Formats: sequence, C-alpha cells, structure tokens
Amino acid sequence: MKKVITYGTYDLLHYGHIRLLERAKALGDYLIVGVTSDDYDKSRGKINVQQSLTERIEAVRSTGLADEIIIEEYEGQKIDDIRRYDVDIFTVGSDWVGQFDYLKEYCEVVYLDRTTGISSSELREKEHKIRLGIYGNVDFLLKYVNESTYVNGIEISGVCTENAGIKEKLKSKEISVYEKYEELLKVSDAVYIVTHPKQHYEDVKLALENGKHVICESPIALSISQNQKLQDMAVSSGLILMEAIKTAYSMAYNRMLLLLKTGIIGKLVSVDAVCTSLSNIGASDFSSGLSKEWNSITAWGPTGMLPVFQLLGTAFKSVEMDTLYLDKEKLFDIFTRINFTYDDAVASVKVGKGVKSEGELIISGTKGYIYVPAPWWKTDYFEVRYENQSNNKRYFYQLDGEGIRYELVQFLKAIEIGKDTGYVSKEVSYHISEIMEKFHSEKNVRTLNVEDI
Ligand code: CTP
Repeated sequence: MKKVITYGTYDLLHYGHIRLLERAKALGDYLIVGVTSDDYDKSRGKINVQQSLTERIEAVRSTGLADEIIIEEYEGQKIDDIRRYDVDIFTVGSDWVGQFDYLKEYCEVVYLDRTTGISSSELREKEHKIRLGIYGNVDFLLKYVNESTYVNGIEISGVCTENAGIKEKLKSKEISVYEKYEELLKVSDAVYIVTHPKQHYEDVKLALENGKHVICESPIALSISQNQKLQDMAVSSGLILMEAIKTAYSMAYNRMLLLLKTGIIGKLVSVDAVCTSLSNIGASDFSSGLSKEWNSITAWGPTGMLPVFQLLGTAFKSVEMDTLYLDKEKLFDIFTRINFTYDDAVASVKVGKGVKSEGELIISGTKGYIYVPAPWWKTDYFEVRYENQSNNKRYFYQLDGEGIRYELVQFLKAIEIGKDTGYVSKEVSYHISEIMEKFHSEKNVRTLNVEDI
C-alpha cells in the first residue's frame, strides 16, 4: 500500500484545498492529512486563522478524502511522521517548491501545482476589512502601521500626526497623512489612539461620538469617572473600546498567567515589577517640549500594574506612591514606586524614564517563584524556580511584533463579534485610571527630594 502525506492549515476550506487533497489522494492508496495546531501556526507567523483546530479538522474530514488526520504541532515533525507512518510520498502545493527537498532523504517529494486565484488569506481579507486610522505623535507610531500588515482584514486608512519624521517615512509607504483628527475619523471604521494621555479622554470621546471603534494606548483616561463615561458611551452605542497594553498579548506572559492558576508556585504573596527606559531628558528640556512626553507613570504605569492586577486582583487595601519629579510644577516624574497592600499579599511597581534599573518581574509564592528577565514586558521566556534548583523549569514562547499584531487581531475579532474580547478587563482598566488620578492629584504620593537632577 502506497502512503501519501500532506500538511496545511485548511482555514476556511476552499476548492484550492480540495483540489490539492484530491490529487494527493490519487498519488497513492492511503492519504494522511496533517492539520496545523493553533500554536504552531502562530509560531510560524499565521496569526489570524479564523477557524479553530477542531473546525479545520472537521472541514478536512468532511471532504471524505483523508484516510487519517493528524495534528502538526512542531517544527521538524514531518520527518518524525514520515518514519512513524511509513510514508512513501510527501506532497504539498507548488507555493512550497524547494522548501521540503530535505525530506527526499526519507521519502519521495512531490510538489503539486497550486490552484490559482484562491487562498485562505484572500478569503479572510474579503470577509472583514476594517479601515483603521492611527493617531498620535510618538516616534514608535510606525510600529503600529507596520504591524497591521500582518493582520488580514485590517487596512490602514491613514495616519494623523504632527511628527515630521513619521510623515516623511509614510511617504514611501503611500499612506495618507491627515492634518486633522476629524478628517482621519471620516475615512476610518476604527482608530488606534496613541496621543498624549492627557488628550485620551477627548480623543476617545470624539471617536465614539462619530461611531468609530477605538483601541487606545493605556491609560485610556486619567480619572475613574472619565474612564466610566467612555466605557458607558461605547456600550450604549454598540462600539468596541479596547485598552491597549502590548504585554497583555505576549504569548509568554499569557502562558505564565495560566500556569500560575494551576498553583505551580503555591499561594501568591508578592508581585514585583520594574519598567524603566532612560531617555535623555533634563529639567531645561521641559519648556522646550518635554510636556509633550509621556511621564513615567503614564508611559510605564499601566504595564507595571498589569501583572499586579491580573494576579492579585484589584481589591487592594492601600496604595502608597513615592515619586521623584524633574520639574517644580510636578508634571514629569522621572521615577515612581507604587506599593500595593492586599489582605494576603503585597506588590510593588517601579517605573522610570529618568532612572535606570533591571526591568524584571518576580512573582513570589509559598512554594517557589517565577522570574521573568528584563525586559519582562516583551519577553519570550520565563523561569519557574524552587528551593531545590533541580526542579526549576524554563519556558520559551515566540513573541513577534512585541504583541501589537496579536492585540490588533483581538481588536478585529471584538469588532466582528460585537463584544470586547480584549485581554485587559474593564476592572483592570478602571483601577489603572484610579492610580493615575491618585498620582496626578497627589493622593497617597510622597515626593522624593533630590537636589540637582
Ligand atoms: N493550496 C493549493 N492551492 C491554493 C491554496 C492552497 O494547492 N489555492 C495548497 C497549499 O499549497 C497546501 C495546502 O493547499 O499544500 C494547504 O494550504 P494552506 O496553507 O492551508 O492554504 P492557503 O490558502 O495557502 O492558506 P494561507 O492563505 O493562509 O497561506
């Protein structure tokens, strides 16, 4: 009996797939189809496959062409499968010509002509195309433009920015630049807001009033009441308002949260997060535009508080902050420490744009601790450590695009199903705004006195 094997994602099964399976089957007597797992697809850059693994398997099964269906879970698995199932022919579409020649050592390799004019990517594109406008002045704005190209179903409608460097770079990308936010809103279904945090409330409000979905860099508002108002507006107008914190979408970070729920380090007692990025700022720069910069608490506070709130909850008993300001007007903190006390745990978050430290995350429990090395907010790796070091375990997960593309995929999904499926809950969002409000109104804040910064 001649055994044939072929692999694919088979998302939104189309006639290109069916034609390939028919011809694969005709090459032998028994056809094995390997369907990729969700994780494997993510690791190879296919990030917004629409159907679940089960649905894709069912679709392949319903063709009646596969004698056996297996799951492809890791790179290099093909060699294993060919040996295990005693395969005679490996086949795949001609879009892969040459790429599987290394399998010739194990079996015959046949590239079948790919059917022209159809692909899962095209089907995903046609089904949902959201015109996304991007608004803000930060230098890293281009990252959002670039990352959106990885997400089928999003089309950049334009960018509204005052940043001359970005405007210049956008010229070569043929992306429209709008001088006025209102103009950008007109040509968009949704906006990504990365303006200064002081502007967020007004910017989000205007977008919602104009019937646009919003993803806004955290903090979405600097007070609880404003946050509440925006959330209420979004709900009553059936729009999505998603708070963006890239780390929430990092695979390693997410897997770590799940792992912690299994009690792997016992009861959680302490969460300590440090986030710093040194920018060359001095008091004299302040008048010359520094007021347009995000201060430390707004730039890093949300990321630092994310693991605290997601792991220990938001019912803290007290919060104390210590801060070091750059200016007499107390607008720009170059360093802030936030200490949270819970009934049964404690947490500390240190953030700084004018103080440098090791950007690590440590989660301590009664049986062990988790160590996430710097920069923990965009890590692909963490360790579970115990008293007995031989029990330590290391975990690796690939991170592409610092989490932005996954965040966009989730935003798109939320718009499609009409429900906020973001990974930053409303609860967490409110409490981030609460801390911002406390900080800016100097409640529970102690000022550090340092001469001549
Ligand atoms: N295939 C084909 N003709 C097409 C599309 C796919 O012959 N028009 C083949 C591929 O070469 C592969 C198998 O079908 O052998 C499964 O492909 P898959 O990657 O799942 O489908 P695509 O439509 O190519 O998906 P995507 O657009 O996400 O890359």
